[in-house]
Amino acid sequence: MKNSYSNIFTFSKKILNKTIKLLAKGNLVALPTETVYGLAGNAYSDLAVKKIYKLKKRPKINPLIIHYYNIKKANNDIAINSNFKKLYKKLCPGPITFILKKKKNSKIQQLANAKLNTVAVRFPKHNIIRKILKTINFPLAMPSANISSSVSPICSQDVVDEFKKKIKFIIDGGQSKIGIESTVIDLTNTPKILRPGIITHSKIEKILKIKVKISNNKSEIKSPGLLKKHYSPGIPVLINQVKFNSKNAIIFLGKKFANKKNFFTLSKNSNLNEAASNLYKTFRLIKKQGFKKIQIAKIPLKDAGIAINDRINRAAEKR
Ligand code: TXA
Ligand code: MG
Repeated sequence: MKNSYSNIFTFSKKILNKTIKLLAKGNLVALPTETVYGLAGNAYSDLAVKKIYKLKKRPKINPLIIHYYNIKKANNDIAINSNFKKLYKKLCPGPITFILKKKKNSKIQQLANAKLNTVAVRFPKHNIIRKILKTINFPLAMPSANISSSVSPICSQDVVDEFKKKIKFIIDGGQSKIGIESTVIDLTNTPKILRPGIITHSKIEKILKIKVKISNNKSEIKSPGLLKKHYSPGIPVLINQVKFNSKNAIIFLGKKFANKKNFFTLSKNSNLNEAASNLYKTFRLIKKQGFKKIQIAKIPLKDAGIAINDRINRAAEKR
């Protein structure tokens, strides 16, 4: 046991065996990944999938990502195509999720895919989850381990803060290195990015050597998790700010305001990957310090900045 919270565990051989037993029985566990922490359940179990929606208070129209050790283990559930093979070879295991056609005889619970004929699949990289996925003979349905529409957790304590004692078993795997959710790309037709992430549009185009679309997702409901009201820290968020109010928490890039208590830099060197990894941590810190409003300065719309802008835009949506 790691600290005073009896539901956080340090990974070991014994904990691996316990995790596998819990999952096989249809129980939920929270697990670290390289992007954010996930709330995992057996994707073939009706009971487990129902528990995920209930605990997260997640709308049933919002499908879950199904996680596998490798392509071989996913073979019975998804129709593999050439674009998928190319991206898998270069990027997996890693922070990218693929939407693919679901095979007719797949054992994935219908509810996990919101009754769509497609599946979102991911092959996460964190070594703890890889050890678990390698051992089990079912995939894991695993959304981010937060109450629906709130900010994703990036450490075990964040998961406790989200669910308190309603979650019995959390494995501590340190802080998630990437700190924002995986890139989601639909490969059922012409490739289209549904959710931007650390693996960027230009990187994907370079691998596929074709034009890749980007969803404007206002008119579409293909990735329902991309609807407005998402990634909210629970207090108002204003973006693209230039004039700052000293009562508000201010998020920015660089080190210009380093000594002021209400100013929070995402990266002293204005490194966009580092900024992405600090975003949710900073949201939670600001909330804990009791600020009532967040103002965010302009973040460049390039590289990881595209994913950051996507998340802060949604965080700024009025409820
Ligand atoms: O990094 C991640 O992807 C994390 C870690 C835990 O793996 N997971 C995650 O899951 O962010 P979640 O449930 O918070 O977000 C999944 C996204 C949602 O926007 C959902 O609508 C979309 O994937 N999605 C899932 N299945 C889909 C499908 N069949 N078609 C389109 N979008 C889908
Ligand atoms: Mg989520």
